[in-house]
Amino acid sequence: MTVAYKVLDQKDLGTSLETKEVFALDVLHGLSQTPKTISSKYFYDDKGSKYFQRITELEEYYLTRCEYEILNTYKNVISDYMNTCEFNLIELGAGDGKKTNILIEHFLQNNLRFNYVPIDISEAAMSWLTNSLKQKFPKLSMYGLVSEYFNAIKWLGKSSNKRNLVLFLGSNIGNFSKGNSKVFLRSLWNSLNDGDYVLIGFDLKKDINLLLNAYNDSEGITKEFNINLLKRINQELKGNFDISKFQFFANYNVSSGAIESYLLSTEKQQVLIEHIGQVFSFKAWEPIHTEYSYKYLQLDIESLANETGFLIENQFYDSKKYFTDSIWKVCKHA
Ligand SMILES: C[S@@+](CC[C@H](N)C(=O)[O-])C[C@H]1O[C@@H](n2cnc3c(N)ncnc32)[C@H](O)[C@@H]1O
Repeated sequence: MTVAYKVLDQKDLGTSLETKEVFALDVLHGLSQTPKTISSKYFYDDKGSKYFQRITELEEYYLTRCEYEILNTYKNVISDYMNTCEFNLIELGAGDGKKTNILIEHFLQNNLRFNYVPIDISEAAMSWLTNSLKQKFPKLSMYGLVSEYFNAIKWLGKSSNKRNLVLFLGSNIGNFSKGNSKVFLRSLWNSLNDGDYVLIGFDLKKDINLLLNAYNDSEGITKEFNINLLKRINQELKGNFDISKFQFFANYNVSSGAIESYLLSTEKQQVLIEHIGQVFSFKAWEPIHTEYSYKYLQLDIESLANETGFLIENQFYDSKKYFTDSIWKVCKHA
């Protein structure tokens, strides 16, 4: 079977570091900070991507269901923005692409001319996605990129001058701090052309118990998803984390407006990571921060668009108003 994606390597990116070295350096940097931290982008090895798929099917994880509803309800309106010319449908952090299937199917049925470019840091997720799409939509023109968002955005900026619709679904934007989300969106803006569109999924502020339940599911899948981060370090960087000595904890920070996820060291301990060549000391109950999931108000979404050079064209909500997909236009001549 032909490969329908490309793993961006050093030559493409103009760097001299292997992916594993970047992972090791990020872990070294993160575990040297106070509080200790590991970026949530490292959740997604093959096991992590499968855990996330299971999270999206959980009763408590309303986000995926809401976005399904939105895309199903408004697929017509979304396709109207793109029905005049050939375009790239670029998806950042595509994952299993199940929700994107709704748009792809609709676009194909309506004879829109587009090339689908899923981008994801997880090669396992990309392989699964591209294989399943090839089977479901044999006529789909598609070329995936296994890469970190920022690298893929830079690469895309240089490689195509077609009209673009960029999807950033699933509340992925919520994993960035408010400052970093501006940096990210502005760098996306830099790589896009005037008149391009982006469709961004934002999880909205709501009853805190609903938020807490979504990240503390009763089946413990989110806990396994987090713990898998330590297993990944053990496997790929020769760490000796004793998994039984870490506890998962997620809470809502009312000041920052984010669910914050942690792994807590349940006792004083030392962990050797051979590939980094360093021992890391943990105090009893010391946290490793693993993920932010920022929640938004309509006002926050408006400021973010204004501050990064986009015009909000339309805003779609699910029937419970738990989630919104916002379509923004790149505006370079304001
Ligand atoms: C929260 S999941 C969302 C998946 C999908 N968009 C959805 O809505 O179900 C995040 C996805 O983004 C990918 N991802 C996370 N951080 C990334 C990064 N920095 N660069 C590229 N992909 C990333 C993960 O591998 C994962 O597939």
